[in-house]
Formats: sequence, C-alpha cells, structure tokens
Amino acid sequence: MSYDLQPNILPSQIPKLPDEVFQQLRKFIYERTGIFFADNKKYLLESRVSRRLTALGASTFSDYYGALMNGAGSSELCHLINAITINETFFFRNEPQFAALETSILPEIIEQKRKAGINKVRIWSAASSTGEEPYTIGLIIKEKLQPRFPSVKFDIIGTDINTQVIEVARRGVYRDYSIRSTPKHFLEKYFTREADSFIISEEIRNAVEFRQLNLFDRDAMKLMKDFDVVFAANVLIYFDFNSKQNVVSSVYNSLNKGGYFFVGYSETLYGLSQAFKPVHFDKAIAYRKE
Ligand SMILES: C[S@@+](CC[C@H](N)C(=O)[O-])C[C@H]1O[C@@H](n2cnc3c(N)ncnc32)[C@H](O)[C@@H]1O
Repeated sequence: MSYDLQPNILPSQIPKLPDEVFQQLRKFIYERTGIFFADNKKYLLESRVSRRLTALGASTFSDYYGALMNGAGSSELCHLINAITINETFFFRNEPQFAALETSILPEIIEQKRKAGINKVRIWSAASSTGEEPYTIGLIIKEKLQPRFPSVKFDIIGTDINTQVIEVARRGVYRDYSIRSTPKHFLEKYFTREADSFIISEEIRNAVEFRQLNLFDRDAMKLMKDFDVVFAANVLIYFDFNSKQNVVSSVYNSLNKGGYFFVGYSETLYGLSQAFKPVHFDKAIAYRKE
C-alpha cells in the first residue's frame, strides 16, 4: 500500500527548517530509529515534520524541537516516527524471493526440523509496513506449503516501528495499488471486493500477528528469537552503515542456525557482514546463517 501520510499542505505554507535545527532533528531521529536524513533529504524532513508543527501549535521548527526536547509527551516521538517513515509496499513485491521461499527454503527447513523432531517454523517480516509482505507469506503458506506439510505449524510475525501502519495491517483492507502484482487465483480465493477495497480473508488475517517494534530497541530485539526466516526488505536503505550493521547483527541473533535472511532487491549484505553465506536462487539471493 502506498500509505500517503502527507496532509494537504502547500509548499508555500511549510515553514523553513533552519540548518541548525535540521542537524539537531536528524541526530535525534537517527539515535532513536537508525533512519538517517542525508543533506539532500532535508526537504523531505521539512515537509514531513511540518504537519507535526501544526498538530502541536508550534510556529517554527525551533519551537517544535524545543517541545520535543521538553517532553511534549513521549507520544510526540511516536507521531514524529509515524510522520517520517516511508511505507511503500505491495503484495508479491519481490516475487523471486517468495518463489525461493516456497520451493527451496521452507521445504529444506521443514525437513531439517522434522529430523530434529520439531514441527514449528517461524517467519518474521521485520519492517512489515501495512502488512502486504507477511500476508504474502501467509498466502503462499496456506496455498502451497500447508497442504504439503499438514502437521507443520507456521508462526508469521509482522513488525514495524510505525504504529499507524501496524493498525492498517491488522485491518487487512487494501486498494488497487497494493494488489496490482497479486496473481488472480489468490485474489479470487483470499480477498473479498467491496467498492474500491480488497479485504483479505479472515484465515490469512488470523495467520499473521502484528506488533510494533523498533529494530534499534535492543531489549525488544533480544526477545525476537528462534526464527527460521527473516525478511528485512527495503528498510536498510534508510539507515547509514553503522545502523545497517547494527540491525544485521541483531537479525543474526534472532535466526536459528541454518535460517535465512532476505533484504530488498536493491539491498545487499556485501561489506556489512561476513557471518552470513549468500545463497543464490533464481533471480533472488538469500543470506544463510551458517
Ligand atoms: C519501505 S517499507 C518496506 C515494507 C516491506 N518490507 C517491503 O519491502 O515491501 C519500510 C518500513 O520500514 C519501517 N522502519 C523504518 N525504520 C524502522 C525501524 N528502526 N524499526 C522498524 N521498522 C522501521 C518503516 O516504518 C516502513 O514501514
């Protein structure tokens, strides 16, 4: 879903973000979320945070930053995060990854676990936005894997730092944009159409659990354990090198030995971590914890 967080503010109505406040604000955001606004993204921060000025009744960015510092309530941090994250996503976004998951990765993991007497497989979509990615995994499992492996229990968890997108994900109601790459068969079988909306079936909705989680919250990350597959797709691009390394090492700890890590099509672990072994599939790479 393209989750448009922009209010109707004309560019001429947006107050100017002074350089000094830009530096303070981006440091504040970086330290809490890992998201780094480079100099050429100043305009983006300016336009996205401007609506928070209106909400708090601050007339300048300086006033807003002061309010943030003086604890305009910890709730303001949540609003700020919701305003600045980019939540672009859609069903079957990176199809070759899901094909690899279905045909190679999950059958391999299930077989290993069967030998060890375990019949549970855990999958985590770690920047799930409005839910399309974990629901795609749910659709594939329901349609292709569960019939082959009826005794296996699949846990699918979707997390995101943005509380608004988690609410949208839990509702499971989508527009054309989200379903544009969804195979017809899945659309007909697992969605109900109501006016302009596509509502995901209850069985798929119930198959995914959503929670708010910041990838930089060390304590919360320590609780994310025993996963067999982790997707952190199209989120590393918003981080600088240190933040990326930090997240990759947390994901490593969250994975079981032999588990797989997927990043976005334009992202790579090359130069970030040698702890994973890249495994090549047809038009997709996954990183295996050895
Ligand atoms: C572009 S979306 C990617 C959605 C999906 N993974 C996909 O590939 O289609 C990036 C998501 O990362 C989330 N995000 C950004 N920083 C985060 C953080 N520190 N912890 C958790 N989620 C974060 C954003 O809120 C956003 O929903």
